[in-house]
Amino acid sequence: AGMRDLAGARLVITAGPTHEAIDPVRYLANASTGKMGYAIAAVAAARGAQVTLVSGPTSLCAPAGVRRTDVVSAAQMHAAAHAAFEDADAAVCCAAVADYTPAAPADHKLKKSAEPLHALELVQTADILADLCARKGDRVVVGFAAETDDLLAHASQKLRSKGADLIVANDVSRADSTFGSDTSRVALVSASGVEQHETLPLAQVADLVCDRVRDLLGARA
Ligand code: C5P
Repeated sequence: AGMRDLAGARLVITAGPTHEAIDPVRYLANASTGKMGYAIAAVAAARGAQVTLVSGPTSLCAPAGVRRTDVVSAAQMHAAAHAAFEDADAAVCCAAVADYTPAAPADHKLKKSAEPLHALELVQTADILADLCARKGDRVVVGFAAETDDLLAHASQKLRSKGADLIVANDVSRADSTFGSDTSRVALVSASGVEQHETLPLAQVADLVCDRVRDLLGARA
């Protein structure tokens, strides 16, 4: 029997990529598999938390004891995350949300034409993490930062600009820490400083994140 140190805590976890429709059969996406978010959901549930996993399209199964809400687009993920956050104590935004979405998705399949397609007009999506932080009150909000360069500088900047309690920074330029990997090398960046970890299995990274969520929830009580 493991720790039940998150018993009673209500967590919203976002995971996976989003798909942004270009037309009914085409979309913009990214290489996220959802493994990190699903690992956090599994560990948090095992430690007693009540978990709502807001998941973009992945091939993963919902971990035992986790309530999953499936979404496709960034806009849907935003709506579902905010709805679940109403009754939550903490949010962990792990999803690789699209930053841009087609301005006017076609309602029919686009035809190939002899003309070159010069551009696809894109508009920015809403930032789920920043918007949750803006209305967090005394709730706890954790974000992720996948970077390929200047990892810690970008993570500290994100901590401030988004208003999160913790940013989990991972260097996705490393093969042992990138999308799809079963390990990750993370730095935990918060107001109290930077804690760099070695490359660890995702379940252990999930435990570290859950430890911090527990401590942050304890500190506000
Ligand atoms: O700004 P950037 O996308 O690098 O920040 C990463 C963090 O912000 C992640 O925690 C990600 O889940 C979150 N995010 C979000 N909604 C967006 C963009 C990013 O929740 N539209």
